[in-house]
Amino acid sequence: MLAKIAVLVSGGGTNLQALLDAQGKKLKHGEIKAVISNHENAYALRRAEKYGVPAYTIKNENEIIQIIEENKIDLIILAGFLSILSKDFTKRYTNRILNIHPSLIPSFCGKGYYGLKVHEAALAYGVKITGATVHFVNEIPDGGKIIDQKAVRVHKGDTPEKLQRRVMEKAEWILLPRATEAVCKNILKEKTK
Ligand code: GAR
Repeated sequence: MLAKIAVLVSGGGTNLQALLDAQGKKLKHGEIKAVISNHENAYALRRAEKYGVPAYTIKNENEIIQIIEENKIDLIILAGFLSILSKDFTKRYTNRILNIHPSLIPSFCGKGYYGLKVHEAALAYGVKITGATVHFVNEIPDGGKIIDQKAVRVHKGDTPEKLQRRVMEKAEWILLPRATEAVCKNILKEKTK
C-alpha cells in the first residue's frame, strides 16, 4: 500500500518535478495521485500531465476538498502554492499538509514572504547562511511544526535569482522528497495499526 499524495502548485513546479522523479526511488511509500493549481497556466500542470498524473485547476478551497475526498488523499503537499489556506482547511487536515519554504524558518517567513521575495529579504539582511524548511501546515503562515531543514551558503555577488536557484538545487529538491517519504511512511504505519 502507498500513501496517496496531492500536490498543490501555483507556478513552475520544479519541486513537483523533484517529487515526480523521486517516485519509486527515494519516495517509496507515497504516490502522487493529483496535482492541483489555482492558476490554469501554471507550468506545473504540464509536468503532471507528462507523468500521467491528473491535473486540476481550481477556483476555491471547496474544489480542493472535493478532489482530496474523491481521491482519498492521505497527504497534501504545498509545493510553491502561493495562496494562504483557511483555518477551516488547515484544521480539517491537521498533520496531513506539508509545505516547503525557501528559508530557514523562523527567518524570512510568514505573510508576504514567498518565492523570490524570500531571497531578496535574505540578501538585504546580509545573512551568510540561508536554506529551506519543510514543515506541517497549521493556521499560522509558515508556523507549523518543522519536519526538516537544510542550510545553504550565500555567495558574494549573489542576486536573488542566483540564490533562489542554489537553494532549490542544494536544499529544496533534496529535502522535499526526503520529508515526504518520512511522513508517508508514518501515515502508512498509523493506518495499519
Ligand atoms: C519554491 O522556491 C518554494 O520553496 C517557494 O516557491 C518556489 C516554487 O518553485 N514557496 C514559497 O515561497 C512558499 N512560501 P517551484 O514552482 O519551481 O517548485
